[in-house]
Amino acid sequence: MRKMQSKIGKILDSIINDHKVQRSKEFTMGNDKKEEDDFVDMLLNHQESNKLEFNLTTNQMKDVILDIIGGGSETSATTLEWVMSELLRNPGVMERAQAEETRQLRTPSPLIARESRDRCQISGYELPIKSKVIINEWALGRDPESWRVDAESFEPERFLGSSIDFKGFDFEYIPFGSGSRMCPGISLVLR
Ligand code: HEM
Repeated sequence: MRKMQSKIGKILDSIINDHKVQRSKEFTMGNDKKEEDDFVDMLLNHQESNKLEFNLTTNQMKDVILDIIGGGSETSATTLEWVMSELLRNPGVMERAQAEETRQLRTPSPLIARESRDRCQISGYELPIKSKVIINEWALGRDPESWRVDAESFEPERFLGSSIDFKGFDFEYIPFGSGSRMCPGISLVLR
């Protein structure tokens, strides 16, 4: 892990340094702003202007960039691979319903973690404050008692005309989680 950390650290350093070099080139050439800032530019803008209440360190920037790469690559790649496989096995079904069904049945992040902020009771169970709660999104999504008839079979048609969506309110289908910590990459995924 240490080896990997140092390897990844170097890659992230070079991404940040490339941006800094590019920005100083543009500055000396008199261009105040690139046509389009990317994500790393945005982080550098914050760091330079120091407008946030906290100072954004370079290590924190590296963590955020790694978070986005980590959160965005494996999930999207796995889902895409499943969609292609399911399309081959079930040709002719509607594309959109296919994506919904794949996200539900082949979810790439099956467990969602939370910590309870207060002491509370759920279904008669007493939960002390700061309990670690693991939400099994995989199991919720294929629970025949909640809605899925013939739960294990791949049937995109069940999403046609259904009002259930992934925005985090229908707990039988929460591939992107729910609430304030839900996946911030949804718009990229949909695109
Ligand atoms: C099929 C694609 C994807 C799926 C199924 C997915 C799913 C999820 C899930 C279930 C969570 C946890 C949500 C929660 O705790 O309530 C999450 C968090 C996150 N996702 Fe995604 N994701 C996908 C793609 C992406 C992409 C493309 C990005 C960014 C480019 C991304 C960035 C993140 C980040 C940064 C978090 C952590 C958010 C936080 O803890 O505040 N994800 N994602």
